[in-house]
Amino acid sequence: MNLKIIDIERDKDFPEETITRLREAKSCVVLTGAGVSAESGVPTFRDALTGTWSNFNVEEFATPEAFRKNPKKVWEWYEYRRNLLKDINPNEGHYAIAELEKIYSDFWLVTQNIDGLHHKAGNKNVLEIHGNICRNKCFEENTIVDNISVGEEIPPRCPDCGSYVRPDVVWFHEPLPKYEMEKAIEVSSQCDIFIVAGTSAIVYPAAELPIIAKNAGAYVMEINIEETLISTQIDMTILGKTGIVLPKLTELIMAKEWK
Ligand code: OAD
Repeated sequence: MNLKIIDIERDKDFPEETITRLREAKSCVVLTGAGVSAESGVPTFRDALTGTWSNFNVEEFATPEAFRKNPKKVWEWYEYRRNLLKDINPNEGHYAIAELEKIYSDFWLVTQNIDGLHHKAGNKNVLEIHGNICRNKCFEENTIVDNISVGEEIPPRCPDCGSYVRPDVVWFHEPLPKYEMEKAIEVSSQCDIFIVAGTSAIVYPAAELPIIAKNAGAYVMEINIEETLISTQIDMTILGKTGIVLPKLTELIMAKEWK
């Protein structure tokens, strides 16, 4: 049971054990959620006031049934969200995770975020288990559709089969992409360090990954502004913003001396 909860605003110093484990580790997996993009201005999902699901009904916008019923409305909602992302850039938390990929020769980033900001920050080994809002795919054939031309008809049509094109994101009632999820489970069960950053850890199967890692012997830590459902099941919770905690952590891993 994790009785180690450090509030970085209050306690200031990072736990020695955490830094030692991070320094000794050969392999590292990071799991991110919406909290990592919050400091870039992307709304999270479950914030009571600004959260996406507090302001938009999942059943109207984020299910295959919703798309079948009203494809134009769903497409336009995603276009609206894509437009919001145009002016959004990675924050210090994203850049610190890109640094971690340089530090560990064996590194994987598993993200629930669909905003593409980890790629923008420079991460390469990224498993986007909920898809990417910038990509599109055929609603019927599930194949990626590049270079769509949005004409009068909304949504546009797949050039191969004529079905509607939809964003390549995972909707409710849909399975996760097979390769990404299998790889995420594989790397989670083999890593030395598993860092959970900015996720409420309530959506499965992503929330299972830290537990898989823990059961396989990894040192599992999380960074969040508040405790989550998994806090009691892992090794260390650091309370603070990812944009502040993650750069500090990478700095400490790299520092010749610390404390
Ligand atoms: P949530 O909105 O559920 O949770 C965001 C988490 O980030 C919360 O635990 C916040 O406390 C934390 N947080 C907010 N700002 C932070 C900051 N600056 N630093 C650190 N932590 C911060 O978002 P997710 O956990 O990503 O799925 O949600 C998981 C999935 O649920 C999403 O991928 C999406 C949603 O339904 C699909 O759409 C399939």
